[in-house]
Amino acid sequence: MTKGDPLLVIENLKAYYPSKKGLVKAVDDVSLTVREGECVGLLGESGSGKTSMALAMLGLFERVAKFTAGASNDPELRKAFAKGIKGEVDRPGVQGSVLFKGLQMVGMPNEELIKIRGKQISLIPQGLGHALNPQHSIGHQTAEPIEIHEEEVRLLEMKRKVLEYLGIVQLADAGLRFVMDPGSFSGGESQRILIAMALIAGPYMVIADEPTSALDVTMQRQILNVLRMIKEEFDVSLLLISHDAGVVAELADIVAIMYCGKILESGPAVEIFHNPKHPYTKGLMSSFPTIAMMQMKAGKKPRLRGIPGDPPDLADVPSGCSFHPRCQYAEDICKTMVPEKEEIDTDHFIRCHRWKDITEE
Ligand SMILES: Nc1ncnc2c1ncn2[C@@H]1O[C@H](COP(=O)(O)OP(=O)(O)OP(=O)(O)O)[C@@H](O)[C@H]1O
Ligand code: SF4
Ligand SMILES: [Mg+2]
Repeated sequence: MTKGDPLLVIENLKAYYPSKKGLVKAVDDVSLTVREGECVGLLGESGSGKTSMALAMLGLFERVAKFTAGASNDPELRKAFAKGIKGEVDRPGVQGSVLFKGLQMVGMPNEELIKIRGKQISLIPQGLGHALNPQHSIGHQTAEPIEIHEEEVRLLEMKRKVLEYLGIVQLADAGLRFVMDPGSFSGGESQRILIAMALIAGPYMVIADEPTSALDVTMQRQILNVLRMIKEEFDVSLLLISHDAGVVAELADIVAIMYCGKILESGPAVEIFHNPKHPYTKGLMSSFPTIAMMQMKAGKKPRLRGIPGDPPDLADVPSGCSFHPRCQYAEDICKTMVPEKEEIDTDHFIRCHRWKDITEE
């Protein structure tokens, strides 16, 4: 169910990496809205462009892409960014529009972006490995988003707030352990600390990129419970990024299905999980036993079958509908024409030439 006013409105967003094989179109013409108080789940196979989309939204994409280009031995590749090609042509970097509370984030100067990043929108980054600095205590790092001032009173207030937030995410013995460095904490505990860091500055929106994927099943459950508590008790929007439909099903109000840098289907979670229309979404749902069980409870007869083949190389995406080499319904038009985004029901969007012809569940 949609909840509040639009908070983040993404339109025609593109984010392309330079590579020796050509442009890697990691985000290719994506439009998506996140409303106040809503949890949007961004679901897709590995390499579909989910993290790149988060980076592009936050003004971090070019830093990552530039690093790759700069680290290359290929002088042409290094020149690709430096040239700063203008106009509506395919080029490395970010194009399109990301409006956050009405402010355009694409092309925003870094001094302005840092007032938003970490404070108004925070990111729980993918992969626990590099997310916490091994040199600093977790208390120090949790306080970073609200900045540490030297004044004693402010420091006391800061400590109180750090302990409050470490308590909210239920970090065991936070009062004794906040002076320890990250090496003393398990994966699940590190994820709790990252969630506390993401919340402490009171953001409007949190982006959680694969918050459970580095954890074992028990820890995954605990972190999902923390995220659910945040969704229910904090006045915050959540963009939950995952390759696991079961994780997205737990929390999302709206689901967007990403494939080869495009959103192929999006809509209310109930529709996407119980009544998917796009062949890719149908295939994706049929690869997850937890979703099959959910559909069974709703009186459907799901079959576990998955999707044949592998996703393509994003430097060489198939023509037309990028899913056509794996789609059992593909026809000639699918090989030549990119399907336009179509609203097939209220807030339910799809990119498929043949969705009306496909009746099989
Ligand atoms: N720095 C980079 N330079 C060039 N290509 C990159 C870079 N980072 C990612 N890519 C490519 O961009 C595409 C999208 O990657 P991205 O990490 O956004 O996918 P993802 O959906 O987050 O995958 P995962 O589920 O594995 O995290 C992939 O083809 C990847 O190889
Ligand atoms: S556009 Fe064609 S190839 Fe793509 S999903 Fe639809 S039927 Fe399959
Ligand atoms: Mg990722």
